Amino acid sequence: MVPDSLRRRAEDLRQLIHYHNYRYYVLDRPEIPDEEYDRLFRELVELEERYPELRSPDSPTQRVGAPPLEAFEPAPHAVPMLSLENAMDEAELREFDARVRRFLGTDEPVVYSCEPKFDGLAVELTYRDGVLVRGATRGDGTVGEDVTVNLRTVRTVPLGLLGTEVPRLVDVRGEVVMPVEAFHRLNREQEQAGLTPFANPRNAAAGSVRQLDSSITARRPLEFFAYGVGRLEGMEVKTHWELMERLHGWGFRVSEHRRRTRGIDGAVEYCRETEARRDEFPYEIDGCVIKVDDLELQERLGAKARAPRWAIAYKFAPRQAVTRVVDIEASVGRTGAVTPVAVLEPVSVGGVTVSRATLHNPDEVARKDIRIGDWVVIQRAGDVIPEVVRALPERRTGDERPFVMPERCPVCGARIERPEGEAIPRCTGLSCPAQLKARIRHFASRRAMDIDGLGTKLVDQLVEKGLVRDVADLFRLSEADLVPLERMAEKSARNLVEAIDRARTRDLARFVYALGIRHVGEATARALAERFGSLEALMDASEEDLLAVPDVGPEVASSVRAFFAEPANRESIRRMLEAGVRPAPPTRPEAAEAPLAGKTFVFTGALESMTRDEAKARVEALGGKVTSSVSRRTDYVVVGADPGSKAEKARTLGVPILTEPEFLELLKTASG
Ligand code: IVH
Repeated sequence: MVPDSLRRRAEDLRQLIHYHNYRYYVLDRPEIPDEEYDRLFRELVELEERYPELRSPDSPTQRVGAPPLEAFEPAPHAVPMLSLENAMDEAELREFDARVRRFLGTDEPVVYSCEPKFDGLAVELTYRDGVLVRGATRGDGTVGEDVTVNLRTVRTVPLGLLGTEVPRLVDVRGEVVMPVEAFHRLNREQEQAGLTPFANPRNAAAGSVRQLDSSITARRPLEFFAYGVGRLEGMEVKTHWELMERLHGWGFRVSEHRRRTRGIDGAVEYCRETEARRDEFPYEIDGCVIKVDDLELQERLGAKARAPRWAIAYKFAPRQAVTRVVDIEASVGRTGAVTPVAVLEPVSVGGVTVSRATLHNPDEVARKDIRIGDWVVIQRAGDVIPEVVRALPERRTGDERPFVMPERCPVCGARIERPEGEAIPRCTGLSCPAQLKARIRHFASRRAMDIDGLGTKLVDQLVEKGLVRDVADLFRLSEADLVPLERMAEKSARNLVEAIDRARTRDLARFVYALGIRHVGEATARALAERFGSLEALMDASEEDLLAVPDVGPEVASSVRAFFAEPANRESIRRMLEAGVRPAPPTRPEAAEAPLAGKTFVFTGALESMTRDEAKARVEALGGKVTSSVSRRTDYVVVGADPGSKAEKARTLGVPILTEPEFLELLKTASG
């Protein structure tokens, strides 16, 4: 027998954890520190271990742990999962609207709900009395596969619906997607483990959901977005918009990029805008879905054989195209990496003309068997460099030639070496002009130092004429140096010198990114600049200091250390400083004036006069920050009743400790 108090405690814990999962995974706004969450979670795990009968199927502890399956059970859909008709352009969207109005016999504008079309795997989640009882793939629309154990591991799939007003029965439909960044990370891991990478995020999402071993699914970065329902019993909803709000309230992620419009014009506008902003989405979308908002009208419109009459998918321009490989070149990057690059017959892909595409590394070329002269499928995804997806061997004539990686750098003639266990061959030339050119191009690029007018052709000339042997030389160029160069008039020479001059005071984050340190992208550069505040501090940072920066792991930390330890890099930086380069320290304009700006607080133990959230809000209102763990960079640890190990840690590190009255006093002083 489980004592009543413990049964209640388990129930409270489940609710609390569900709620905090929702704050964390769905709203992206956690309310409690990770440690606190872990503590709640552990308490529930321990309770359930002691009393297994407390382990309900909707318990948050039950996301993982099912034994591998032999095969998936068939999962029939009570209401078929239909597909959508496509509109390829504006005219077809307008035809859809005309059909809808003709069918309804109205001249009035129809209200449409517009939303992105997720490019992932469609699934259905069935909830009885608020508890997830089944998760199924779409399959052929009538019968799918039962992938409940797998979907339970997806953090944005609620195991139980939140809120007091939940339906007796609901089939929630939506899409499982893998965010693009996570997809690239997963593929890098796959490659390192000697496994075949996934072709695109959709395949990765589908492959992850259709795993017989749910512990593999659990490790994959998946997200679920809800966009509709099948059966809905015990609840009245009037519009699609209202339905989406309900779904959100029950704990589902729904797209924030939804819009409701009256008449088709607004929907057309929505599609145009969304397509233009496609690359800004963290996950892939391949179109927009336009739905008649009124559910009663949806009912009246009904469906044809495979698709409803009340919705249409506006498809974006495809991002894949077919073209021919004219040549395969070995291209040398700024770190000396030698990458095979396919030179293509120019082709338009999703509105951009593509004439080169990466083949990543020699193993990829071999695995995909891409030959010079082949017809190939190429694709662009988001902002990334176009890549060759696969060859079309059926179109070969016999004249195609395989690619052979040269033994020597095509630019400087130094040997190309491939370190043990690495996929990427590197040029060993210390002064390889190709590496230097690539470094300069990166340094000057828009997102780095943003030196207007320093294009590829000019960089080539500067390096070939020996005017720039190191990035620092850029800051010593005079108009007189530039004028003799090809296609350089006096005016453009002056403009360039001025653009270089403006770059002298670019902010530190851009400067750090511009240095081209391996594994340091824009976001990491920004984090480093914010944490260290000056170039000198960053250059002197120890591995430990670096590891304390959010998102900096051992690989990044050691790469940063190695970069600044290299005498040639230190010398180059010294010469830049000598030439008047002064990276501007990060500023947070409003925050800088605030009384607690730059101060970091950690709380431990319970406060008497306010909750943690209120305390946090008070600190933040005064410009301070609250974090969950104590480090040397913490300014104050505020200790309430029953403090945890953080107080101890603060003492060891010599971080000032405040009692609650002292904290209140500090707030009072700071508020003036
Ligand atoms: S509504 C009966 N909304 O597109 C209409 N579908 O070709 C049900 N999809 O397999 C679909 N995003 O998986 C709808 N916002 C969205 C969607 C969406 C992606 C997928 C869905 C379906 C396919 C339809």
